[in-house]
This record gives sequence, structure tokens and C-alpha cells, in this order.
Amino acid sequence: MSEIRLGILGTGFMGGIHARALRDVAGARLIAACDPDRARLEDFGREHGVDRLTTEPAAFLDTANLDLVIIATPNAQHAALAATALSAGKHVLVEKPLALTLDETRTLQTLALAHRRVLAYGENLFFAPKFRRLRELAADDNGMGRVYHQRHVFETAGPDGEWWLDPSQVGGGAMLDLGCHLVSLCCWIYRGSKARAVTGHSRTVEPHRCGVLEDFALAWLEFEDGRTADVRTSWLQRGGEELVTEVLGTKGFVRADLWKGMGLSAYTQGRFSSMWEPASGWVHPEWEWIQNSGYPQQLRAMIHAIVNGGAMEADCQLWQHVLEILLAVNRSARTGRTVSLPLDDGATLTLTEPLRQSVNE
Ligand SMILES: NC(=O)c1ccc[n+]([C@@H]2O[C@H](COP(=O)([O-])OP(=O)(O)OC[C@H]3O[C@@H](n4cnc5c(N)ncnc54)[C@H](O)[C@@H]3O)[C@@H](O)[C@H]2O)c1
Repeated sequence: MSEIRLGILGTGFMGGIHARALRDVAGARLIAACDPDRARLEDFGREHGVDRLTTEPAAFLDTANLDLVIIATPNAQHAALAATALSAGKHVLVEKPLALTLDETRTLQTLALAHRRVLAYGENLFFAPKFRRLRELAADDNGMGRVYHQRHVFETAGPDGEWWLDPSQVGGGAMLDLGCHLVSLCCWIYRGSKARAVTGHSRTVEPHRCGVLEDFALAWLEFEDGRTADVRTSWLQRGGEELVTEVLGTKGFVRADLWKGMGLSAYTQGRFSSMWEPASGWVHPEWEWIQNSGYPQQLRAMIHAIVNGGAMEADCQLWQHVLEILLAVNRSARTGRTVSLPLDDGATLTLTEPLRQSVNE
């Protein structure tokens, strides 16, 4: 295979990030894109030099001579679009969440195996240089001693855009949106150990904005080897996004802060114009954020797996376990009890059943 021909389904925020990341990647070319929003699609085509544009996913998969499809649409469409793309013989990188039920995830795994295609979900943090280094240090017995716990925080100001707050489109709240990254990191750092028990707490602090979706959630995970992890997510963060992972050992400690520990800080009595919030006072300007977040490296790994017949770490099997943990967090938050894994009735469970209580009525 000389050059991988790539197409993107969904030309919104993440579709654009993948197109920009691809500029740093050899061996692949973006040749087609699809989005029902014609104006957005045409803007995307102009910005990224793509002329095979269609608003119809079926036409996109039929007509374009594609090797690899990236799915960056609203969450509820991921599983069905991935199934169609795999059945059409494409390799597929699906933005997280890979699927919203364990049943859907199993179906995708079966299709990928049957068609011998590489299927992965978008876990860019596995490729973020800082997180790769953290994982390496966490495995250093001399430096860390016995690693016994991980602490994770991912808090944002919350999504904007219509579909993000529609339960039937998004499929879950902050714990699905942000927690799936953190739970994936827990499993990745513990290198294959599985969670055996999960305790969760979820709240909807702003029900007028989030409806039945939680905007604040905590999880406590116990792994089969006795190690533990805690995970905190929120859509309520003020003062800029937080994404921090810490690993605790009996002799050592390692911490990665994606945004505020980038090594660059600045102060202004005015307001920096090219900066995300917060842009005044003491600030932490991002630099090379697409690279520092691992997006080009993720695409390189995908292309390598396609060309060399390899696999990706963020695959169906990992998603199956991550989703099972997220479903257990949700159940625990609703029942007030710790939930044991594996779930015996998890196949079709979803993450959008209303929470047991909401704090701000
Ligand atoms: N890995 C990450 O860092 C990260 C960050 C943000 C979002 N995401 C994920 O990326 C996905 C997209 O999020 P976003 O923020 O880009 O949303 P977005 O709203 O900016 O873009 C979604 C796009 O999909 C289009 N779309 C809807 N139905 C479609 C279909 N059937 N075929 C093709 N296009 C369709 C919409 O018109 C829109 O342009 C979500 O699943 C989200 O979880 C991942």
C-alpha cells in the first residue's frame, strides 16, 4: 500500500483537528470528507484542500476510494457508521466513545475481525508525549517502589453545541465525555489489570443546562491486583481546563499536567488575544497543543498498524472494559452501592438513565 487514502466523517471541531494533525504525518493523504452541514463541509474542503465532499455518509463510503475512515460525528452515530465502514472494507478510527453499549462494541469487534480491518477509538492521550513518559516512569520499580494508586482529573467548562446536551445524541454526561479518557489511562498505566469493583458519585449541578446528564462525577476503582484509582470529571470548571494524572508509589510519585504544566507561563494586566480562557492575569499559554495532545502520533500509529498488520492499544477489547467501568460508575451513582465487575447484565445498559438525585432542585 503506497499511500493511505483517508476520509473524515464529521467536519466539526475534531474533524478539523484530525485534518490539521495529518499535515504532520507521512504516508497518508486526506481525499474525502462528509458532513450533513454543507456550509461547514465546504469551509473544511477549502481549508484542507479536499474536493471530494458529500453530505451523504453512504455516498461517501461508496464513491470514495478510501482505505481509512475517521469518524468524528456526534456520539450516538459512531457505532452504526463504524459498522458500515468496516463492512465496506475500510480501516476505522472512531473518535471516543467507540460505542455506547457493550452489545454494539462486540458487534464492531466481530466485524473488524471478519473483515481483517484495524479498528481503534480515539485515545490521543496514549500518544501525548507527556503521558507516555509518565507511564514509563510509573513502571520504574527503582524509582516508584510499589505503585498503589492513580489520581486523575479532567474538568472543562462543558461542551457547547446542541447535540452535546441531547441525551439521545451524546449518550452520557461528563463521565462518558471526559471520564472515558481517564479510565482508559488507568487501564493503560496498570498495563492490562482489570477493575473488579467500582464506586461512583454523580451530580447534576446545573440541571437547567444538562437535564438528565451529570455535569460532575467521581469514581473510585479497585483493580484485581488490589491497586486503586480515583477519577474526577466535571463540565463546570472555571479558569481553564484541567487534565492532570498522578501515579503514587511507595518510593516515588509522578505527575503530568497537560495544560498548566506545559512550561510556559505569562502575565498580563490586559488580555492576550490568541489565548483560550483564562486570557488575563497569570496564564499558561498553550503551544503545539495538537502535537502535545498526541493527535499526529495517533494517526501515525494507525497508519503503521494498517501497513504492517498491527493493532492499536485503544481497541474494542479495551473499550469493552472502559465502557463496563463507566456503566458501573453510573449504576453505583444511582444505587449508592459499590458495583462488582464484570457486570452480568451489562449488554444493553446505557449511560443516560436519570440520576438518583440532583443537587440543585
Ligand atoms: N479525542 C478528543 O480529544 C476529542 C475532543 C473533542 C471531541 N471528541 C469527539 O469527537 C466527536 C465529535 O465532536 P466535535 O466536538 O467535533 O463535534 P462537532 O459538533 O464540532 O462536530 C460534529 C460534526 O459531525 C457532523 N455530523 C453529524 N452527523 C453526521 C453524519 N451522519 N455524517 C457525517 N457528519 C455528521 C455535524 O454536522 C458536525 O459538523 C465526538 O464524538 C466527541 O466525543 C474527541
